Amino acid sequence: MASETVRALDGVNLEINEGERIILLGPSGSGKTTLLNCLSALDSPTAGSYSFSGIEVPRDDSEEMTSFRRDNIGYVFQFFNLLQDLTVLENILLIQELAGGRDLDRARNLLELVGLKREIDRFPAEISGGQQQRVAIARSLAKRPRLLLGDELTGNLDSRTSSSVMEVLVKACDSEGITCVFVTHDESLIEYATRVIRIDSGKIISDEQIG
Ligand SMILES: Nc1ncnc2c1ncn2[C@@H]1O[C@H](COP(=O)(O)OP(=O)(O)O)[C@@H](O)[C@H]1O
Ligand SMILES: [Mg+2]
Repeated sequence: MASETVRALDGVNLEINEGERIILLGPSGSGKTTLLNCLSALDSPTAGSYSFSGIEVPRDDSEEMTSFRRDNIGYVFQFFNLLQDLTVLENILLIQELAGGRDLDRARNLLELVGLKREIDRFPAEISGGQQQRVAIARSLAKRPRLLLGDELTGNLDSRTSSSVMEVLVKACDSEGITCVFVTHDESLIEYATRVIRIDSGKIISDEQIG
């Protein structure tokens, strides 16, 4: 900013292994979203580097940065972001089309995986918030991302619905072999993690494996 320098992240050094399910915890303003945006290549660190599967990730709003994101990264949002005029199934098919081609069998299988077999022809307004978030999870998996990211993805759900969404998410990611990083300030989500990283004032203050 004009008046001062903000260090949203400060000396972060992090290695994520394939198949890990990381919960990133920290208070508001601690740098969680910034770190997630660096991981998804929506943003680039001012200094330092980021490599993914041994290759340097493209940076600074390049076209390569966009392709990297498209090929590798899945995202689940706090406010589901489903297209309201499309059915549950059509929401998945559209994403497949954008990513290179429809695959009706896979779309159906993904919706079955997240427990929505009976809802596939309904519109988003005709299902609950938890069900909408499960559609969004199926959608995020449709293009087979290597890394799945979520920023407060249960932030708009009550605690019981959060648990059922997280259970579905863990099952889906395990079955698809996807690495995950989920940002939250909700300590109760720790039970779904294989690793918990805590961040404060842009610094990693603890990093522990679970189980
Ligand atoms: N575009 C920006 N310009 C200036 N400061 C920013 C900007 N985005 C975030 N920040 C600051 O960087 C820090 C980390 O923000 P953020 O990553 O959004 O934290 P969190 O997601 O943990 O709430 C905060 O101090 C925030 O005010
Ligand atoms: Mg944030």
